[in-house]
Amino acid sequence: MNKTVKLLTLTAMASISLAAADFITAAKADKLDASKVKLESVMLYPQTTIGNNDKEATAKMKGLKALEAKAGAAFNDKEMLVVIKWKDATDSKQSQKSTKAFGDSVAIQFPTACLEADKLPYIGMGSEGRTVSVLLQKNTEGVYPANENADITAHQARQNLNLFGEELKKKEASQKTLVAKYNKVFVAEGFRSMTEVKDAKGYEMSMNYKSGEWTAVFKKPLNDDYSKACDATPMAIAIWDGAKDGRNGNKWLSSWTPIKTKDGAKAKADIAKISEKSKGSVANGKKLATDNCAACHTMGDIKAPMAYMAPELSNIGGYSTAAYLKESIVAPNAAVVPGYNKNAHPSGTWYSVDDKGARTSTMPAFDYLKPTEIDDIVAFLQTLKAGVK
Ligand code: HEC
Repeated sequence: MNKTVKLLTLTAMASISLAAADFITAAKADKLDASKVKLESVMLYPQTTIGNNDKEATAKMKGLKALEAKAGAAFNDKEMLVVIKWKDATDSKQSQKSTKAFGDSVAIQFPTACLEADKLPYIGMGSEGRTVSVLLQKNTEGVYPANENADITAHQARQNLNLFGEELKKKEASQKTLVAKYNKVFVAEGFRSMTEVKDAKGYEMSMNYKSGEWTAVFKKPLNDDYSKACDATPMAIAIWDGAKDGRNGNKWLSSWTPIKTKDGAKAKADIAKISEKSKGSVANGKKLATDNCAACHTMGDIKAPMAYMAPELSNIGGYSTAAYLKESIVAPNAAVVPGYNKNAHPSGTWYSVDDKGARTSTMPAFDYLKPTEIDDIVAFLQTLKAGVK
């Protein structure tokens, strides 16, 4: 091979590895083995929806690039296994001794029910009536007692009152690994509405750091109250970097990425819908968005005049489907983004609540725009996402 051809081949290979997959194919296997799962590229983008009150943390997230993760899945009649890998220069642990040490963390999210592909829950942990389950793991300092004030030695000693010698040692060793892990299952209908599922059965999680890379494994029931296997099961991934003070909203987020467990027309149609790219005009969409939306929304280099008014859309193209963007424009009340803590930012209220608890967005519906204009705006919004380098 001559040099030019070699270089071209290498460039082509590099760009192939960066092209994110539209879906993940889950292999059917009797025995689920994380080391055999085939991985696909999934892109995650810095979630810019709301600013963080911690200025230091927000500064560390500023100008952050996209993150490429690898994800794969396998399943059998009872369970599903999901593997996520990503590069991280440091193994950051959440510390009990310091409030300033944050752990690298990873979560995967599923709708709790099989919904129409154009009516998926809000990507930021669901929305009213469209709940999600969230499987969350954090890298902790080695011990994480149930009671945060408890001294771990006392905590273990109390539990081991009847054990001595080798038996005690064994018990302590197993307890250490037990308490060392932070992994939990939550259900949510919008960020700040997470409820821990205390009776989650059949869930197993682990995360391991090796040679600058994290490998996280999640095992869950194929079908339970918290998620269902659909023909193409939508999954979203969130990753936090402890070294960047990552926690809560300071994270990378993927869009809904279907896990294909069945062949056939339904899976194909759902995958096409979830990965749809608008064919509208980006240039015209940018013009329309500047005229109609910039009074409230910051969109990349187009800046809103006031902070807290509305979600920052600078990475919205990275973690939203075309169907969601269209719905947000014509029917803002269909999925309302929770917004800021009202006490911290009383002027930044994004919705009102009636006496029955129903939320009405402060965003007007732009349902009077022509369908082609909406397609143009969606095409523009889909370009709003951080690059890789
Ligand atoms: C009067 C202020 C205002 C205007 C004008 C406005 N929006 Fe919004 N928008 C909001 C608020 C507040 C929310 C959050 C509540 C909600 O989800 O509806 C929002 C939410 C959104 C979301 C969901 C964001 C997310 O993080 O998921 C999108 C997308 C969006 N708007 C797009 C637009 C587009 C496109 C336009 C112009 C055609 C526009 N908005 C005009 C106030 C506004």
